[in-house]
Amino acid sequence: MTENNQHEEQGSAYGRFHRRVLEGKAVVFAVATTVAISIGGLAEIIPMFSASLGPERSEAVTPYTPLEVAGRDLYIREGCYTCHSQMVRPMRAELLRYGEWSRAWEYTYDRPFLLGSRRLGPDLQRVGGKYPDAWHYDHMEDPRALSPGSIMPAYDWMLTDRVEVADVTASIRALSTAGHPYDGDSEEWVRAEMERQGGEIVANLQSAGRETTWDTEIVAMIAYLQRLGVEGRQILQQQATASAPEAEASSTESAAAAQAGGGDR
Ligand code: HEC
Repeated sequence: MTENNQHEEQGSAYGRFHRRVLEGKAVVFAVATTVAISIGGLAEIIPMFSASLGPERSEAVTPYTPLEVAGRDLYIREGCYTCHSQMVRPMRAELLRYGEWSRAWEYTYDRPFLLGSRRLGPDLQRVGGKYPDAWHYDHMEDPRALSPGSIMPAYDWMLTDRVEVADVTASIRALSTAGHPYDGDSEEWVRAEMERQGGEIVANLQSAGRETTWDTEIVAMIAYLQRLGVEGRQILQQQATASAPEAEASSTESAAAAQAGGGDR
């Protein structure tokens, strides 16, 4: 018997075993396949039940203020998310253009989330602090005045239309029910919060020669836009400082710079 023949003999013996013990017996085969497939499944499913895994969380994230909620509601009403995404992906080109990539916990209080799926305009997840309040005021009134050739529509009615405190109160109550921690949900509280934060933006705009009042839609829109990505950036800088004490001096400086830059809240 040549070597080749020996191999063939063994091969067919193995083939017979395979047919007899596995494929020939439907039930055994079904059980064996189920076991084989579950191994892969369990490897993915079991870790999900472990509390320490899953999306990263951060206790430092705070909910949107009433004025920011008002701006966010306008952002949804006007469909800004159809042109703008709010998610910086961990890719070199995006990091260079937008800064830190988006972390899961930054969306803790984004209900509903506004990640978007198209980018006819730039990503807005880190737009907070990028421009002064007056820039947004002018840009909303006439995008082409600041970005020649822009295809973004003008939203000039926001300069004169007013936000209803009752509507914002309803939003705050809905978000409270969903578990967002707020210090109050009465109309008086919401109005006071909006007046306080809106007043700061009105003062900023006034010093740049634009007259408006705290209850206009543009002020709410600016509050929302200037908030985007700022808190996440600060938390990331604090985390970096905590985990790299030797680099403390330089990151504290940049954290302070970021705080000064995004200090509209
Ligand atoms: C038809 C698509 C479209 C819609 C809808 C749209 N935008 Fe834009 N947006 C753009 C484009 C394009 C740009 C870039 C040119 C420019 O600055 O105008 C832009 C730029 C911006 C910028 C400046 C971003 C940066 O980093 O320079 C902001 C802020 C902005 N849009 C906010 C909004 C808001 C708020 C809304 C909804 C009220 C909105 N956009 C609706 C297309 C759109």
